[in-house]
Amino acid sequence: MLSKEDNELLTQTSAGTPGGDLLRRYWMPICPAAELTAEKPKRRVRILGEDLVLFRDGQGKLGLMAEQCPHRNASLYYGFVEDDGLRCPYHGWKFDAEGACIERPFEKNKDARLPECAKAYPAQALGGIIFGYLGPLPAPLLPRWENYVRKDGKRTITVLPVHHCNWLQAQENSVDPVHTYWLHAHILKSKGLDPRATAYFGRPIEAYDFDLCHEPTWSGIRKARVYGGDKPEREIGHPAIFPNILMNPQAGALVSHHRTPIDDKTTYIIWQEFWPSPDGKEVEQRDEDIPVTYLDHPKGADGEYDLSSFPAQDLMAWETQGAIADRSREMLGASDRGIVMWRRLLKEQIELVQQGKEPVGIIRDAALNDIITFHLSKGQMNLSLGAAAE
Ligand code: FES
Ligand SMILES: [Fe+2]
Repeated sequence: MLSKEDNELLTQTSAGTPGGDLLRRYWMPICPAAELTAEKPKRRVRILGEDLVLFRDGQGKLGLMAEQCPHRNASLYYGFVEDDGLRCPYHGWKFDAEGACIERPFEKNKDARLPECAKAYPAQALGGIIFGYLGPLPAPLLPRWENYVRKDGKRTITVLPVHHCNWLQAQENSVDPVHTYWLHAHILKSKGLDPRATAYFGRPIEAYDFDLCHEPTWSGIRKARVYGGDKPEREIGHPAIFPNILMNPQAGALVSHHRTPIDDKTTYIIWQEFWPSPDGKEVEQRDEDIPVTYLDHPKGADGEYDLSSFPAQDLMAWETQGAIADRSREMLGASDRGIVMWRRLLKEQIELVQQGKEPVGIIRDAALNDIITFHLSKGQMNLSLGAAAE
């Protein structure tokens, strides 16, 4: 349970709020790279409460800037993408990817370069996804997670429907080890769907534990479970990565789930999926050839959720907690210990940023960032059904 003040602190995302300032220290996925095409090299974007335009100029450079033109505020989204920048549709002022105004037709000194004219942010593509960084410069390195850079397999991407809830509800689920039994296995079983997943997640959970990790390239929490029943198993602890990622082994793929706040009450979720070749063979795959699947929102016209899939079941749980879950009205159990740990970590990091310090999981040393691998067998946890959460 949190005070109303702490709940606000942990869930705010806009610029100038402590939570928003923290989230701005991390690269955020914006969309699949394939969404910018030669025919339409621009896209409207809203992240962390800011309305932006993403574009790829004629030289292939990515630009991410405030949608409203600095001249008289018309939308740059309707502008013209040119070789060296984006030209406003209203009076034709042109801005490069760094936000400098490089042309003002019908003005004196029309070609004078005016730096820092439009509000622009760094953008980079990796592994088929475009990321933006909305924080103070210099930007840290974009983390090279193994699923983004490994060559011995192929990649796919899944874009989930916009979730009508705060990002933290999705992230807290990543350290919730017991929801899989009822929300996934039991619902699927009741519908006669997916017998394999039902059998896996329908086993009784006999123990669980959480491990706070501080690695040189990431921080987060590994959760692990011990299953009983006919096929007992001690599951390897896969990590939730601070602040808004889950790294998940999923049906033969290594998948990162990213939760980008659109604003305080809506969240964009994208999965980057890497499928290792069974024989370790390298696969050539250009970014634009990575297949992207878009999932529909499962809520029907009658207001009922269709709960036939894992992502739909999670979405229902997170949205029905409320647009911003009221954590002052909770009754936590022992299985929520990971969530308590996550909130504590989040609050500590918000406070660090407020003191002018760097939060965890920021990479500035290129030598650490060649490839970030996840040793999914690491971590000796002491698994038990714990005492009540704090
Ligand atoms: S409003 Fe953009 S050029 Fe005038
Ligand atoms: Fe789930």
